[in-house]
Formats: sequence, structure tokens, C-alpha cells
Amino acid sequence: MHLQQEIIDKTAAHVQELLSGEGSGHDWWHILRVWNNAKTIAASENADLFIVELAALLHDIGDHKFHNGDETVGPRMAAEWLKQLQVQDEVIHHITTIIKELSFKGAGTTSEMQTIEGRIVQDADRLDAIGAIGIARTFAYGGHKNREMYNPTITPEMHDSFEAYKNSTAPTINHFYEKLLLLKDRMHTQTAKRMAQQRHAYMETYLEQFFSEWKGLK
Ligand code: ADP
Ligand code: NI
Repeated sequence: MHLQQEIIDKTAAHVQELLSGEGSGHDWWHILRVWNNAKTIAASENADLFIVELAALLHDIGDHKFHNGDETVGPRMAAEWLKQLQVQDEVIHHITTIIKELSFKGAGTTSEMQTIEGRIVQDADRLDAIGAIGIARTFAYGGHKNREMYNPTITPEMHDSFEAYKNSTAPTINHFYEKLLLLKDRMHTQTAKRMAQQRHAYMETYLEQFFSEWKGLK
């Protein structure tokens, strides 16, 4: 078997073992979907597929939410793993850079991906946050955090600042307006833009139906 394929297969098995049973939206199935999205997107781009696939597989192994906010854990774990498989240092560096930039969410800004491989993985990850899967993940996350689905009496205006509001027990439906509906305009590649448009329209239809049912309309 081709050595690169063997490294990808071993990495997939390793990540599956690390993340199986993780219940808050970053389980193995998220990784598998992002990996598939990334391959679909990469098919129309001139990118190094080995880097794309490994970065997609390794992008959430040390998610900072589960390591007390330490964002260096993920890239470090990924580097150690790849070193063990004797992947070249430059390749490891490229992959860990992608993982770092993906998880960077400081000051509400999004860091720009420097390479096409990074942009593909970021698009692939964002696609999994929208559409039918995105809706399911969002409510799963809200349940995990014990949040209400929706509460018409809680609005951003009730809080001193948007930050305070976000850190409160804001109902899950708010996440659509704060983040999910903004993602389609942040896609880099043509393929992801197209995929995002369809998933975005689906979320809009879903929200209309949600509020209509909430009010008991016919
Ligand atoms: P990403 O995989 O894009 O880095 P996050 O780590 O922010 O996403 O979140 C993982 C999943 O949990 C996503 O599907 C996201 O929509 C959901 N999620 C994150 N924050 C919230 C929130 N405040 N309310 C509801 N869902 C959330
Ligand atoms: Ni992810």
C-alpha cells in the first residue's frame, strides 16, 4: 500500500479511538463528515490532499473546551502522533499551523487561513456546523449545556453587554443568529460556497417552521 495512504488510515483509526463516545459535537462522526467534506472540496482545488486529509482528521483531537482552555494541546498531540509515523517536519508544521488557526477564535475575529489546504479544512469544518447536521449538533450541544431550546422572554437587550449575554444561558436558538447563519458568507472555496448555500436555505426554512410551530400556527 502507498505510504501516504497507510499514514492516513492509521491516523483515522487513532482519531476514531481517541474521540469515540465524545458527546458534545466533536465526536468521531464529526471528524468523518469533515474529512468527507474536505475530500469533496479538494477534488476541485489544486491542493495537497495528504495535508488536507491529515489536518481534517486531526483538527479536533485536543479541542480546547475539553482541556481547560489550553489551545496548545491539540497541535501538540497532532505533532507527536505524526512524528511517530515519521512524517516530514515541514508537513507536520503545515498541519499544526492549520489546526492552530482553525481553533483560534480570539476577540470574535476569524483568522485567515494562509494556505489552500487550510482554507479547505476550514470550509469543511464550517459546513458541518450548518444544514441539517448543524441543526442537530447545535441542539445536542445546547442539551449538553442544559440550555433551553428557545425562550422568547430572554433577549440580548436584557444584558449589560453582548459578551455577558453570550456567556449566559442564552437559549440554543440564538446560536443560529450569532453564528450559524453567518457562515455561508465566510466560505473560501467555490464548492463549499455552493454546498453552504443549500444548507443555509435549509436552516432558514427550519427556523421559519420552528417559530410557526412555537406559536401554534396552522
Ligand atoms: P467548530 O467545530 O466550528 O469549532 P464549536 O467547537 O464552536 O464549533 O462547536 C461545536 C458544535 O457545537 C457546533 O455544531 C456548534 O454549532 C455547537 N455550538 C457551539 N457553541 C454553541 C452554543 N453557544 N449554542 C449551541 N450550539 C453551540
Ligand atoms: Ni471541528
